[in-house]
Amino acid sequence: RSFLQTLGRVTLATILTTAGGLYYYTQKDRHPGNQLPFDSTKKTIVVLGSGWGATSLLKSLDTEDYNVIVISPKNYFLFTPLLPSVAVGTLNPRSIIQPTRYITRHKKRMVSVIEGTATEVDPTAKTVTFTDSSEIQGAISKTTIPYDYLVYAVGAENQTFGIPGVREYGCFMKELHDAETLQRRFMDCVETAAFPGQSEEEIDRLLHVIVVGGGPTGVELSGELHDFLEDDLKSWYPELAGKVRLTLVEAMPSVLPMFSKKLIDYTVSTFNEEKIEVLTKTMVKEVKEKTVVLQRPDKEIVEVPYGVLVWAAGNVGRQITRDLMAKFTEAQTNKRGLTVDDHLALNGSNGSIYAIGDCTSTPYAATAQVASQEGAYLARMFKLMAKRDAVAEQVYKLQQEVTLRGDGEGRKGELEKLEKALEKAANIRPFHYSHQGSLAYIGSDKAIADLTIFKENFATGGVATFLFWRSAYISTLFSLRNRILVATDWLKVKLFGRDVSRD
Ligand code: FAD
Ligand code: NAI
Repeated sequence: RSFLQTLGRVTLATILTTAGGLYYYTQKDRHPGNQLPFDSTKKTIVVLGSGWGATSLLKSLDTEDYNVIVISPKNYFLFTPLLPSVAVGTLNPRSIIQPTRYITRHKKRMVSVIEGTATEVDPTAKTVTFTDSSEIQGAISKTTIPYDYLVYAVGAENQTFGIPGVREYGCFMKELHDAETLQRRFMDCVETAAFPGQSEEEIDRLLHVIVVGGGPTGVELSGELHDFLEDDLKSWYPELAGKVRLTLVEAMPSVLPMFSKKLIDYTVSTFNEEKIEVLTKTMVKEVKEKTVVLQRPDKEIVEVPYGVLVWAAGNVGRQITRDLMAKFTEAQTNKRGLTVDDHLALNGSNGSIYAIGDCTSTPYAATAQVASQEGAYLARMFKLMAKRDAVAEQVYKLQQEVTLRGDGEGRKGELEKLEKALEKAANIRPFHYSHQGSLAYIGSDKAIADLTIFKENFATGGVATFLFWRSAYISTLFSLRNRILVATDWLKVKLFGRDVSRD
Protein backbone atom coordinates (compact mmCIF):
# COMPACT_ATOMS: atom_id res chain seq x y z
CA ARG A 1 0.00 0.00 0.00
CA SER A 2 2.80 2.40 0.97
CA PHE A 3 4.49 1.64 -2.39
CA LEU A 4 1.25 2.50 -4.22
CA GLN A 5 0.84 5.66 -2.18
CA THR A 6 4.40 6.76 -2.99
CA LEU A 7 3.87 5.95 -6.66
CA GLY A 8 0.64 7.95 -6.62
CA ARG A 9 2.34 10.92 -5.00
CA VAL A 10 5.28 10.83 -7.43
CA THR A 11 2.87 10.63 -10.39
CA LEU A 12 0.80 13.52 -9.06
CA ALA A 13 3.92 15.60 -8.41
CA THR A 14 5.19 14.88 -11.94
CA ILE A 15 1.86 15.86 -13.50
CA LEU A 16 1.64 19.06 -11.45
CA THR A 17 5.26 20.04 -12.20
CA THR A 18 4.81 19.38 -15.94
CA ALA A 19 1.50 21.29 -16.03
CA GLY A 20 3.04 24.15 -14.01
CA GLY A 21 6.12 24.26 -16.26
CA LEU A 22 3.95 24.23 -19.38
CA TYR A 23 1.73 26.97 -17.97
CA TYR A 24 4.72 29.12 -17.00
CA TYR A 25 6.36 28.58 -20.41
CA THR A 26 3.22 29.37 -22.41
CA GLN A 27 2.37 32.44 -20.34
CA LYS A 28 5.91 33.76 -20.67
CA ASP A 29 5.62 33.23 -24.41
CA ARG A 30 2.25 34.99 -24.53
CA HIS A 31 3.48 38.21 -22.96
CA PRO A 32 6.71 39.26 -24.64
CA GLY A 33 8.59 42.13 -22.99
CA ASN A 34 9.79 45.46 -24.30
CA GLN A 35 12.04 45.55 -27.33
CA LEU A 36 14.84 47.86 -28.38
CA PRO A 37 13.58 50.58 -30.74
CA PHE A 38 14.81 51.01 -34.32
CA ASP A 39 18.34 52.44 -34.43
CA SER A 40 19.10 54.86 -37.26
CA THR A 41 22.81 53.94 -37.14
CA LYS A 42 22.01 50.33 -38.05
CA LYS A 43 21.39 48.98 -41.54
CA THR A 44 17.85 48.06 -42.56
CA ILE A 45 16.91 44.61 -43.82
CA VAL A 46 13.59 44.40 -45.65
CA VAL A 47 12.21 40.85 -45.87
CA LEU A 48 9.59 40.08 -48.52
CA GLY A 49 7.40 37.11 -47.58
CA SER A 50 6.39 35.20 -44.46
CA GLY A 51 6.76 31.65 -45.78
CA TRP A 52 9.38 28.98 -45.15
CA GLY A 53 12.43 30.99 -46.21
CA ALA A 54 11.47 34.27 -44.52
CA THR A 55 10.24 32.65 -41.30
CA SER A 56 13.34 30.54 -40.89
CA LEU A 57 15.44 33.70 -41.36
CA LEU A 58 13.36 35.64 -38.81
CA LYS A 59 13.59 32.83 -36.25
CA SER A 60 17.40 32.87 -36.27
CA LEU A 61 18.18 36.50 -37.12
CA ASP A 62 19.92 38.57 -34.46
CA THR A 63 17.98 41.83 -34.64
CA GLU A 64 20.42 43.66 -32.40
CA ASP A 65 22.56 44.25 -35.47
CA TYR A 66 19.83 45.49 -37.84
CA ASN A 67 16.49 47.21 -38.22
CA VAL A 68 14.16 44.63 -39.76
CA ILE A 69 10.95 45.17 -41.73
CA VAL A 70 8.83 42.24 -42.97
CA ILE A 71 6.31 42.75 -45.76
CA SER A 72 3.91 39.98 -46.73
CA PRO A 73 0.28 39.81 -47.92
CA LYS A 74 -0.29 37.32 -45.11
CA ASN A 75 0.51 38.14 -41.52
CA TYR A 76 1.25 34.48 -40.80
CA PHE A 77 3.43 31.52 -41.66
CA LEU A 78 1.71 28.52 -43.29
CA PHE A 79 3.03 25.02 -42.59
CA THR A 80 2.45 23.72 -46.14
CA PRO A 81 3.30 20.01 -45.57
CA LEU A 82 0.08 19.58 -43.59
CA LEU A 83 -2.13 21.61 -45.95
CA PRO A 84 -3.70 18.55 -47.66
CA SER A 85 -4.86 17.40 -44.20
CA VAL A 86 -6.81 20.66 -43.85
CA ALA A 87 -8.57 20.03 -47.18
CA VAL A 88 -10.32 16.95 -45.75
CA GLY A 89 -10.89 18.30 -42.25
CA THR A 90 -8.26 16.18 -40.46
CA LEU A 91 -6.67 19.40 -39.26
CA ASN A 92 -8.19 22.71 -38.35
CA PRO A 93 -6.88 25.48 -40.67
CA ARG A 94 -5.70 27.55 -37.70
CA SER A 95 -3.60 24.67 -36.35
CA ILE A 96 -1.05 24.95 -39.14
CA ILE A 97 -0.55 28.70 -39.25
CA GLN A 98 1.51 30.87 -36.96
CA PRO A 99 1.20 34.67 -36.81
CA THR A 100 4.51 36.24 -37.85
CA ARG A 101 4.35 38.56 -34.84
CA TYR A 102 4.55 35.52 -32.53
CA ILE A 103 8.14 35.30 -33.72
CA THR A 104 9.10 38.92 -34.22
CA ARG A 105 7.77 40.13 -30.83
CA HIS A 106 10.31 37.86 -29.15
CA LYS A 107 13.25 39.50 -30.92
CA LYS A 108 15.64 41.81 -29.06
CA ARG A 109 14.91 44.75 -31.33
CA MET A 110 11.45 45.55 -32.60
CA VAL A 111 10.62 44.19 -36.06
CA SER A 112 8.07 45.97 -38.19
CA VAL A 113 5.57 43.50 -39.66
CA ILE A 114 3.55 44.97 -42.51
CA GLU A 115 0.62 43.22 -44.17
CA GLY A 116 1.19 44.29 -47.75
CA THR A 117 2.01 43.00 -51.21
CA ALA A 118 5.28 44.12 -52.75
CA THR A 119 4.63 45.37 -56.26
CA GLU A 120 8.02 46.68 -57.30
CA VAL A 121 11.66 46.44 -56.32
CA ASP A 122 13.96 49.18 -57.54
CA PRO A 123 17.51 47.80 -57.22
CA THR A 124 19.08 51.10 -58.28
CA ALA A 125 17.30 53.31 -55.74
CA LYS A 126 17.25 50.36 -53.29
CA THR A 127 13.55 50.73 -52.56
CA VAL A 128 10.48 48.48 -52.36
CA THR A 129 6.98 49.61 -53.22
CA PHE A 130 4.08 47.76 -51.66
CA THR A 131 0.31 48.02 -51.45
CA ASP A 132 -2.40 47.04 -49.03
CA SER A 133 -4.13 44.28 -50.97
CA SER A 134 -6.55 43.33 -48.19
CA GLU A 135 -10.31 43.96 -48.23
CA ILE A 136 -10.23 47.03 -46.01
CA GLN A 137 -8.15 49.97 -47.18
CA GLY A 138 -7.19 53.06 -45.20
CA ALA A 139 -6.40 56.52 -46.53
CA ILE A 140 -2.97 55.25 -47.59
CA SER A 141 -2.71 51.95 -49.41
CA LYS A 142 0.54 52.25 -51.34
CA THR A 143 3.98 53.30 -50.20
CA THR A 144 7.70 52.98 -50.95
CA ILE A 145 10.48 52.34 -48.42
CA PRO A 146 14.27 52.11 -48.70
CA TYR A 147 16.43 49.11 -47.78
CA ASP A 148 20.12 48.41 -47.25
CA TYR A 149 19.58 44.69 -47.74
CA LEU A 150 16.55 43.04 -49.29
CA VAL A 151 15.70 39.41 -48.59
CA TYR A 152 13.51 38.31 -51.44
CA ALA A 153 11.44 35.26 -50.36
CA VAL A 154 8.09 35.62 -52.13
CA GLY A 155 7.78 31.95 -53.18
CA ALA A 156 6.04 30.95 -56.39
CA GLU A 157 2.52 30.64 -57.74
CA ASN A 158 0.57 27.84 -59.44
CA GLN A 159 1.79 26.83 -62.88
CA THR A 160 -1.14 26.47 -65.28
CA PHE A 161 0.82 26.48 -68.57
CA GLY A 162 -1.94 28.75 -69.89
CA ILE A 163 -4.27 25.73 -70.15
CA PRO A 164 -7.79 27.07 -70.67
CA GLY A 165 -10.29 26.77 -67.81
CA VAL A 166 -7.82 25.85 -65.04
CA ARG A 167 -8.22 29.12 -63.14
CA GLU A 168 -11.96 29.37 -63.77
CA TYR A 169 -12.99 25.85 -62.78
CA GLY A 170 -10.11 24.22 -60.90
CA CYS A 171 -9.17 24.30 -57.22
CA PHE A 172 -5.56 24.64 -56.07
CA MET A 173 -3.58 23.35 -53.11
CA LYS A 174 -1.11 26.08 -52.22
CA GLU A 175 -2.69 28.51 -49.78
CA LEU A 176 -4.84 28.03 -46.71
CA HIS A 177 -7.95 29.29 -48.49
CA ASP A 178 -7.34 26.71 -51.28
CA ALA A 179 -7.70 23.87 -48.76
CA GLU A 180 -10.83 25.44 -47.30
CA THR A 181 -12.33 26.01 -50.77
CA LEU A 182 -11.66 22.40 -51.75
CA GLN A 183 -13.27 21.05 -48.58
CA ARG A 184 -16.35 23.21 -49.15
CA ARG A 185 -16.60 22.35 -52.85
CA PHE A 186 -16.21 18.62 -52.27
CA MET A 187 -18.88 18.57 -49.56
CA ASP A 188 -21.13 20.64 -51.83
CA CYS A 189 -20.73 17.98 -54.53
CA VAL A 190 -21.58 15.23 -52.02
CA GLU A 191 -24.70 17.05 -50.80
CA THR A 192 -25.74 17.89 -54.37
CA ALA A 193 -25.35 14.24 -55.31
CA ALA A 194 -27.66 13.41 -52.37
CA PHE A 195 -30.31 15.82 -53.66
CA PRO A 196 -33.53 13.90 -54.43
CA GLY A 197 -34.04 12.86 -58.03
CA GLN A 198 -30.44 13.34 -59.16
CA SER A 199 -29.72 11.07 -62.15
CA GLU A 200 -27.12 8.29 -61.81
CA GLU A 201 -25.01 9.98 -64.48
CA GLU A 202 -25.03 13.28 -62.60
CA ILE A 203 -24.24 11.55 -59.29
CA ASP A 204 -21.24 9.85 -60.92
CA ARG A 205 -20.04 13.20 -62.27
CA LEU A 206 -20.46 15.05 -58.97
CA LEU A 207 -18.62 12.34 -57.04
CA HIS A 208 -15.65 12.16 -59.40
CA VAL A 209 -12.64 13.99 -57.94
CA ILE A 210 -9.76 14.51 -60.34
CA VAL A 211 -6.33 15.54 -59.05
CA VAL A 212 -4.01 16.82 -61.77
CA GLY A 213 -0.28 16.42 -61.10
CA GLY A 214 1.46 13.34 -59.76
CA GLY A 215 4.07 15.31 -57.80
CA PRO A 216 4.06 15.08 -53.99
CA THR A 217 1.20 17.61 -53.63
CA GLY A 218 -1.15 15.61 -55.89
CA VAL A 219 -0.16 12.28 -54.32
CA GLU A 220 -0.53 13.43 -50.71
CA LEU A 221 -3.89 15.04 -51.44
CA SER A 222 -5.16 11.87 -53.14
CA GLY A 223 -4.14 9.86 -50.07
CA GLU A 224 -5.94 12.26 -47.73
CA LEU A 225 -9.11 12.23 -49.88
CA HIS A 226 -9.07 8.44 -49.80
CA ASP A 227 -8.90 8.45 -45.96
CA PHE A 228 -11.81 10.88 -45.74
CA LEU A 229 -13.85 8.63 -48.00
CA GLU A 230 -13.01 5.41 -46.12
CA ASP A 231 -13.10 6.70 -42.54
CA ASP A 232 -16.00 9.13 -42.66
CA LEU A 233 -18.05 9.37 -45.86
CA LYS A 234 -18.75 5.63 -45.76
CA SER A 235 -20.36 6.07 -42.32
CA TRP A 236 -22.38 9.22 -42.97
CA TYR A 237 -23.22 8.82 -46.67
CA PRO A 238 -23.44 5.02 -47.05
CA GLU A 239 -25.67 5.35 -50.12
CA LEU A 240 -23.11 7.52 -51.93
CA ALA A 241 -19.65 6.62 -50.64
CA GLY A 242 -19.30 3.63 -52.99
CA LYS A 243 -19.84 5.93 -55.94
CA VAL A 244 -17.00 8.36 -55.13
CA ARG A 245 -14.12 8.03 -57.63
CA LEU A 246 -10.62 9.42 -57.20
CA THR A 247 -8.42 9.86 -60.28
CA LEU A 248 -4.84 11.10 -60.34
CA VAL A 249 -3.71 12.42 -63.73
CA GLU A 250 0.00 12.75 -64.53
CA ALA A 251 1.54 13.78 -67.84
CA MET A 252 4.85 11.99 -67.26
CA PRO A 253 5.37 8.18 -67.30
CA SER A 254 5.48 8.02 -63.50
CA VAL A 255 4.29 9.79 -60.36
CA LEU A 256 6.72 11.14 -57.74
CA PRO A 257 9.83 11.33 -59.95
CA MET A 258 11.94 12.57 -56.99
CA PHE A 259 11.45 9.30 -55.07
CA SER A 260 13.25 6.00 -55.68
CA LYS A 261 11.73 3.46 -58.07
CA LYS A 262 10.90 1.12 -55.17
CA LEU A 263 8.80 3.82 -53.45
CA ILE A 264 7.11 4.85 -56.68
CA ASP A 265 6.01 1.22 -57.20
CA TYR A 266 4.90 1.00 -53.56
CA THR A 267 2.82 4.18 -53.95
CA VAL A 268 1.17 2.98 -57.15
CA SER A 269 0.33 -0.42 -55.63
CA THR A 270 -1.07 1.27 -52.49
CA PHE A 271 -3.16 3.56 -54.70
CA ASN A 272 -4.44 0.49 -56.58
CA GLU A 273 -5.55 -1.02 -53.26
CA GLU A 274 -7.10 2.30 -52.28
CA LYS A 275 -8.97 2.34 -55.62
CA ILE A 276 -7.34 5.59 -56.68
CA GLU A 277 -7.04 5.44 -60.44
CA VAL A 278 -3.61 6.61 -61.62
CA LEU A 279 -3.50 7.80 -65.22
CA THR A 280 0.11 8.39 -66.25
CA LYS A 281 1.26 9.70 -69.65
CA THR A 282 -2.07 11.53 -69.67
CA MET A 283 -2.13 15.26 -70.19
CA VAL A 284 -4.85 17.76 -69.34
CA LYS A 285 -5.54 19.93 -72.38
CA GLU A 286 -8.52 21.93 -71.18
CA VAL A 287 -10.73 22.22 -68.15
CA LYS A 288 -14.41 22.90 -68.78
CA GLU A 289 -17.10 23.61 -66.18
CA LYS A 290 -18.14 19.98 -65.78
CA THR A 291 -15.64 18.00 -67.84
CA VAL A 292 -11.90 17.85 -68.36
CA VAL A 293 -10.28 17.26 -71.74
CA LEU A 294 -7.50 14.66 -71.52
CA GLN A 295 -4.96 13.49 -74.03
CA ARG A 296 -4.37 9.79 -73.39
CA PRO A 297 -1.06 7.94 -73.98
CA ASP A 298 -2.26 6.87 -77.45
CA LYS A 299 -2.90 10.60 -78.21
CA GLU A 300 -6.64 10.03 -78.20
CA ILE A 301 -8.59 13.01 -76.79
CA VAL A 302 -11.30 12.16 -74.27
CA GLU A 303 -13.65 14.31 -72.23
CA VAL A 304 -14.17 13.11 -68.65
CA PRO A 305 -16.91 14.47 -66.34
CA TYR A 306 -15.87 15.61 -62.86
CA GLY A 307 -17.35 17.26 -59.75
CA VAL A 308 -14.13 18.66 -58.29
CA LEU A 309 -10.83 19.15 -60.09
CA VAL A 310 -7.69 20.00 -58.15
CA TRP A 311 -4.77 21.46 -60.03
CA ALA A 312 -1.40 20.49 -58.51
CA ALA A 313 0.84 20.80 -61.55
CA GLY A 314 3.80 22.64 -60.03
CA ASN A 315 5.19 26.15 -59.63
CA VAL A 316 5.93 29.22 -61.72
CA GLY A 317 7.54 32.55 -60.75
CA ARG A 318 5.36 35.45 -59.65
CA GLN A 319 4.90 38.56 -61.80
CA ILE A 320 7.02 40.66 -59.39
CA THR A 321 9.83 38.11 -59.78
CA ARG A 322 9.66 38.31 -63.56
CA ASP A 323 9.71 42.12 -63.28
CA LEU A 324 12.75 41.97 -61.01
CA MET A 325 14.56 39.68 -63.44
CA ALA A 326 13.84 42.12 -66.25
CA LYS A 327 15.79 44.76 -64.32
CA PHE A 328 18.96 42.67 -64.56
CA THR A 329 19.00 42.05 -68.30
CA GLU A 330 22.49 40.48 -68.30
CA ALA A 331 22.69 38.73 -64.92
CA GLN A 332 19.17 37.24 -64.77
CA THR A 333 18.44 35.23 -67.87
CA ASN A 334 17.24 31.91 -66.41
CA LYS A 335 13.51 31.63 -67.12
CA ARG A 336 13.02 29.11 -64.26
CA GLY A 337 13.73 31.68 -61.55
CA LEU A 338 16.18 34.09 -59.95
CA THR A 339 19.80 33.01 -59.95
CA VAL A 340 22.01 33.62 -56.93
CA ASP A 341 25.69 33.24 -56.09
CA ASP A 342 27.02 30.77 -53.52
CA HIS A 343 26.18 33.22 -50.69
CA LEU A 344 22.57 33.49 -51.99
CA ALA A 345 23.10 37.05 -53.24
CA LEU A 346 21.08 37.82 -56.35
CA ASN A 347 23.38 37.82 -59.37
CA GLY A 348 23.81 41.39 -60.56
CA SER A 349 22.67 43.04 -57.30
CA ASN A 350 26.13 43.72 -55.81
CA GLY A 351 25.20 41.97 -52.59
CA SER A 352 22.24 44.18 -51.69
CA ILE A 353 19.52 41.62 -52.59
CA TYR A 354 19.40 38.02 -51.34
CA ALA A 355 16.91 35.58 -52.83
CA ILE A 356 15.81 32.31 -51.23
CA GLY A 357 13.25 29.55 -51.68
CA ASP A 358 10.87 28.79 -54.50
CA CYS A 359 11.44 32.10 -56.31
CA THR A 360 14.99 31.02 -57.17
CA SER A 361 16.38 28.59 -59.69
CA THR A 362 19.06 26.52 -57.95
CA PRO A 363 20.30 22.93 -58.23
CA TYR A 364 18.00 22.07 -55.32
CA ALA A 365 14.29 21.16 -55.43
CA ALA A 366 11.62 23.75 -54.59
CA THR A 367 11.05 22.49 -51.06
CA ALA A 368 10.48 23.80 -47.57
CA GLN A 369 13.64 22.01 -46.53
CA VAL A 370 15.76 24.03 -48.94
CA ALA A 371 14.02 27.36 -48.22
CA SER A 372 14.36 26.97 -44.45
CA GLN A 373 18.04 26.03 -44.63
CA GLU A 374 18.63 29.05 -46.87
CA GLY A 375 16.79 31.34 -44.42
CA ALA A 376 18.81 30.04 -41.47
CA TYR A 377 22.03 30.45 -43.46
CA LEU A 378 21.19 34.08 -44.27
CA ALA A 379 20.55 34.79 -40.58
CA ARG A 380 24.04 33.46 -39.74
CA MET A 381 25.52 35.37 -42.65
CA PHE A 382 23.93 38.68 -41.60
CA LYS A 383 25.44 38.16 -38.13
CA LEU A 384 28.89 37.59 -39.65
CA MET A 385 28.41 40.56 -41.97
CA ALA A 386 27.61 42.78 -38.97
CA LYS A 387 30.83 41.57 -37.29
CA ARG A 388 32.78 42.16 -40.50
CA ASP A 389 31.37 45.68 -40.83
CA ALA A 390 32.30 46.46 -37.21
CA VAL A 391 35.91 45.35 -37.78
CA ALA A 392 36.01 47.25 -41.08
CA GLU A 393 34.99 50.41 -39.23
CA GLN A 394 37.74 49.88 -36.65
CA VAL A 395 40.27 49.40 -39.47
CA TYR A 396 39.05 52.54 -41.20
CA LYS A 397 39.32 54.62 -38.01
CA LEU A 398 42.82 53.34 -37.25
CA GLN A 399 43.95 53.90 -40.82
CA GLN A 400 42.75 57.51 -40.54
CA GLU A 401 44.62 57.95 -37.26
CA VAL A 402 47.82 56.48 -38.68
CA THR A 403 47.60 58.66 -41.80
CA LEU A 404 46.66 61.86 -39.96
CA ARG A 405 49.09 61.59 -37.07
CA GLY A 406 51.79 59.64 -38.86
CA ASP A 407 51.84 57.40 -35.84
CA GLY A 408 54.78 55.12 -35.17
CA GLU A 409 55.32 51.39 -35.55
CA GLY A 410 53.14 50.46 -32.49
CA ARG A 411 49.92 51.55 -34.18
CA LYS A 412 50.94 50.01 -37.47
CA GLY A 413 51.27 46.60 -35.79
CA GLU A 414 47.80 47.03 -34.33
CA LEU A 415 46.49 48.00 -37.74
CA GLU A 416 48.03 44.93 -39.37
CA LYS A 417 46.36 42.71 -36.76
CA LEU A 418 43.00 44.34 -37.39
CA GLU A 419 43.40 44.05 -41.15
CA LYS A 420 44.05 40.33 -40.74
CA ALA A 421 40.96 40.05 -38.53
CA LEU A 422 38.98 41.84 -41.24
CA GLU A 423 40.24 39.46 -43.90
CA LYS A 424 39.09 36.54 -41.73
CA ALA A 425 35.72 38.15 -40.97
CA ALA A 426 35.13 38.87 -44.65
CA ASN A 427 35.69 35.22 -45.52
CA ILE A 428 32.12 33.97 -45.01
CA ARG A 429 31.46 30.37 -45.93
CA PRO A 430 29.14 29.74 -48.88
CA PHE A 431 25.71 28.13 -48.48
CA HIS A 432 25.75 24.36 -48.25
CA TYR A 433 22.50 22.39 -48.53
CA SER A 434 22.22 19.27 -46.44
CA HIS A 435 19.49 16.98 -47.77
CA GLN A 436 17.67 15.20 -44.95
CA GLY A 437 15.53 13.08 -47.29
CA SER A 438 12.02 13.18 -48.74
CA LEU A 439 8.79 12.17 -47.06
CA ALA A 440 5.25 11.87 -48.37
CA TYR A 441 1.92 10.62 -47.03
CA ILE A 442 0.06 8.23 -49.35
CA GLY A 443 -3.14 7.43 -47.42
CA SER A 444 -4.33 4.46 -45.29
CA ASP A 445 -1.90 5.47 -42.52
CA LYS A 446 1.06 4.81 -44.83
CA ALA A 447 3.90 7.09 -45.81
CA ILE A 448 7.03 6.80 -47.93
CA ALA A 449 10.48 8.09 -47.07
CA ASP A 450 13.74 8.40 -48.96
CA LEU A 451 16.15 9.17 -46.16
CA THR A 452 19.83 9.95 -45.98
CA ILE A 453 21.30 8.70 -42.69
CA PHE A 454 25.06 8.90 -42.16
CA LYS A 455 25.43 9.50 -45.92
CA GLU A 456 23.55 6.23 -46.64
CA ASN A 457 20.24 6.22 -48.52
CA PHE A 458 17.24 4.35 -47.15
CA ALA A 459 13.93 3.89 -48.96
CA THR A 460 11.08 2.84 -46.74
CA GLY A 461 7.29 2.82 -46.84
CA GLY A 462 4.39 1.70 -44.68
CA VAL A 463 2.70 2.27 -41.35
CA ALA A 464 5.96 2.69 -39.36
CA THR A 465 7.05 5.32 -41.89
CA PHE A 466 3.69 7.03 -41.36
CA LEU A 467 4.44 7.31 -37.61
CA PHE A 468 7.86 8.67 -38.50
CA TRP A 469 6.18 11.13 -40.95
CA ARG A 470 3.88 12.37 -38.21
CA SER A 471 6.64 12.73 -35.62
CA ALA A 472 8.95 14.41 -38.15
CA TYR A 473 6.33 17.01 -39.05
CA ILE A 474 5.15 17.62 -35.53
CA SER A 475 8.71 18.32 -34.45
CA THR A 476 9.29 20.56 -37.49
CA LEU A 477 6.28 22.75 -36.64
CA PHE A 478 7.67 26.10 -35.55
CA SER A 479 5.99 26.42 -32.15
CA LEU A 480 4.80 24.43 -29.14
CA ARG A 481 1.36 25.98 -29.65
CA ASN A 482 1.08 24.54 -33.19
CA ARG A 483 2.40 21.16 -32.03
CA ILE A 484 -0.30 20.95 -29.38
CA LEU A 485 -3.02 22.12 -31.81
CA VAL A 486 -2.04 19.57 -34.48
CA ALA A 487 -1.68 16.70 -31.97
CA THR A 488 -5.08 17.56 -30.51
CA ASP A 489 -6.67 17.61 -33.99
CA TRP A 490 -5.21 14.17 -34.74
CA LEU A 491 -6.60 12.84 -31.46
CA LYS A 492 -10.04 14.41 -32.11
CA VAL A 493 -10.22 12.79 -35.55
CA LYS A 494 -9.19 9.43 -34.08
CA LEU A 495 -11.97 9.69 -31.48
CA PHE A 496 -14.81 11.43 -33.33
CA GLY A 497 -13.89 11.32 -37.03
CA ARG A 498 -13.84 14.26 -39.43
CA ASP A 499 -16.58 16.85 -39.58
CA VAL A 500 -18.73 16.49 -42.70
CA SER A 501 -20.74 19.69 -42.30
CA ARG A 502 -20.41 22.28 -45.04
CA ASP A 503 -19.96 25.87 -43.90
P1 FAD B 1 6.50 30.29 -49.44
O1 FAD B 1 6.57 29.42 -48.26
O2 FAD B 1 5.45 30.02 -50.46
O3 FAD B 1 6.38 31.79 -48.93
C1 FAD B 1 6.24 32.86 -49.80
C2 FAD B 1 5.76 34.03 -48.99
O4 FAD B 1 5.80 35.21 -49.78
C3 FAD B 1 4.34 33.88 -48.49
O5 FAD B 1 4.27 34.30 -47.17
C4 FAD B 1 3.56 34.81 -49.40
O6 FAD B 1 2.40 35.29 -48.78
C5 FAD B 1 4.58 35.90 -49.63
N1 FAD B 1 4.37 36.72 -50.82
C6 FAD B 1 3.81 36.37 -51.99
N2 FAD B 1 3.80 37.41 -52.83
C7 FAD B 1 4.38 38.44 -52.18
C8 FAD B 1 4.65 39.78 -52.52
N3 FAD B 1 4.34 40.28 -53.72
N4 FAD B 1 5.23 40.58 -51.60
C9 FAD B 1 5.56 40.08 -50.37
N5 FAD B 1 5.33 38.83 -50.01
C10 FAD B 1 4.75 38.01 -50.90
N6 FAD B 1 8.26 21.02 -49.04
C11 FAD B 1 8.92 20.13 -48.26
O7 FAD B 1 10.14 20.23 -48.13
N7 FAD B 1 8.26 19.13 -47.62
C12 FAD B 1 6.92 18.99 -47.70
O8 FAD B 1 6.35 18.07 -47.12
C13 FAD B 1 6.20 19.91 -48.49
N8 FAD B 1 4.86 19.81 -48.60
C14 FAD B 1 4.17 20.72 -49.35
C15 FAD B 1 2.79 20.59 -49.46
C16 FAD B 1 2.07 21.49 -50.22
C17 FAD B 1 0.58 21.35 -50.33
C18 FAD B 1 2.75 22.54 -50.89
C19 FAD B 1 1.97 23.54 -51.72
C20 FAD B 1 4.11 22.66 -50.81
C21 FAD B 1 4.85 21.74 -50.05
N9 FAD B 1 6.22 21.83 -49.94
C22 FAD B 1 6.92 20.95 -49.16
C23 FAD B 1 6.97 22.87 -50.66
C24 FAD B 1 7.19 24.09 -49.75
O9 FAD B 1 5.98 24.54 -49.21
C25 FAD B 1 7.83 25.23 -50.52
O10 FAD B 1 8.99 24.79 -51.16
C26 FAD B 1 8.14 26.37 -49.57
O11 FAD B 1 6.94 26.94 -49.11
C27 FAD B 1 9.00 27.44 -50.24
O12 FAD B 1 9.25 28.44 -49.30
P2 FAD B 1 9.32 29.97 -49.75
O13 FAD B 1 9.66 30.75 -48.54
O14 FAD B 1 10.17 30.11 -50.94
O15 FAD B 1 7.85 30.30 -50.25
P1 NAI C 1 5.57 19.12 -59.06
O1 NAI C 1 6.17 20.06 -60.01
O2 NAI C 1 6.46 18.31 -58.20
O3 NAI C 1 4.62 18.09 -59.84
C1 NAI C 1 3.66 18.55 -60.76
C2 NAI C 1 3.32 17.40 -61.70
O4 NAI C 1 2.26 17.81 -62.54
C3 NAI C 1 4.47 17.01 -62.59
O5 NAI C 1 4.78 15.66 -62.38
C4 NAI C 1 3.96 17.29 -63.98
O6 NAI C 1 4.40 16.34 -64.92
C5 NAI C 1 2.46 17.23 -63.81
N1 NAI C 1 1.74 18.02 -64.82
C6 NAI C 1 2.03 19.26 -65.25
N2 NAI C 1 1.15 19.66 -66.20
C7 NAI C 1 0.29 18.64 -66.39
C8 NAI C 1 -0.83 18.46 -67.23
N3 NAI C 1 -1.26 19.41 -68.07
N4 NAI C 1 -1.49 17.28 -67.16
C9 NAI C 1 -1.10 16.30 -66.30
N5 NAI C 1 -0.04 16.44 -65.49
C10 NAI C 1 0.65 17.59 -65.51
O7 NAI C 1 4.52 19.97 -58.20
P2 NAI C 1 4.03 19.81 -56.70
O8 NAI C 1 3.66 18.43 -56.39
O9 NAI C 1 3.02 20.86 -56.47
O10 NAI C 1 5.33 20.16 -55.85
C11 NAI C 1 5.91 21.47 -55.93
C12 NAI C 1 7.19 21.48 -55.13
O11 NAI C 1 6.89 21.29 -53.75
C13 NAI C 1 8.14 20.36 -55.54
O12 NAI C 1 9.46 20.82 -55.50
C14 NAI C 1 7.93 19.33 -54.48
O13 NAI C 1 9.09 18.56 -54.24
C15 NAI C 1 7.56 20.16 -53.26
N6 NAI C 1 6.67 19.37 -52.39
C16 NAI C 1 7.24 18.45 -51.58
C17 NAI C 1 6.45 17.64 -50.79
C18 NAI C 1 7.10 16.60 -49.95
O14 NAI C 1 8.31 16.55 -49.87
N7 NAI C 1 6.32 15.76 -49.29
C19 NAI C 1 4.98 17.76 -50.78
C20 NAI C 1 4.48 18.75 -51.72
C21 NAI C 1 5.31 19.52 -52.47
